Amino acid sequence: MKGVITIDGPSGAGKGTVSKILAKRLGYQYLDTGALYRAVAWKAREENIDPDNEPALAALLKEIDISFEGGRICVDGTDVTSAIRTAEMGELSSRISALPAVRAGLFAFQRAMCLEGGVVIEGRDTGTAVFPEGKNKFYLDATLEERARRRYEELMARDPEATLEKTMDDIKKRDARDSSRDSAPLMKTEDMIYIDSTDLSVKEVVKKILNHLT
Ligand code: DC
Repeated sequence: MKGVITIDGPSGAGKGTVSKILAKRLGYQYLDTGALYRAVAWKAREENIDPDNEPALAALLKEIDISFEGGRICVDGTDVTSAIRTAEMGELSSRISALPAVRAGLFAFQRAMCLEGGVVIEGRDTGTAVFPEGKNKFYLDATLEERARRRYEELMARDPEATLEKTMDDIKKRDARDSSRDSAPLMKTEDMIYIDSTDLSVKEVVKKILNHLT
């Protein structure tokens, strides 16, 4: 059976870029779990649901239909691929992802993909909560400055109000929230291979991961 590769780490560490290339190289599927949380955040905003209203979000999760196809993500039939990539959705997804009901609602979808095998799955808890029994678990990191720079480059095309300082502040806040929540926080465990991508090219990171695969 094809395996499962989990890649966790903070925003801007390069998980998405690296995971996509890796998945292509190996003929695996790619699952961006952050996009799932962003999709829920987008729908909650559409429905004017307060991000602290856990029961309403739990109800939303029972109804919502999230699908991935050809690199696009759709929520209840609407293509939200670009709409979920704003700083606002980054912040909102981080807030709602701290709620156990939201995590529970997305768990089965992620877990089912892992059990089928042949997947590169990336996020904050893929190696700790979604697929803890995995043999190929990685933690991808970079300095705060480098991560903010990368995220700012992505954002500036879409958001003329974005600045490097604001992006860095947002990332700092999000890192703190994602790492300190009670429910499946972002953390590096001893069975994960740690890679600092600050001074590495994407190609070098991919090579390191390929070299570690068992
Ligand atoms: O990776 P990202 O920036 O697209 O993720 C958006 C938010 O979703 C992130 O701040 C925290 C949450 N998230 C999570 O809680 N667990 C995951 N496995 C992936 C993302």
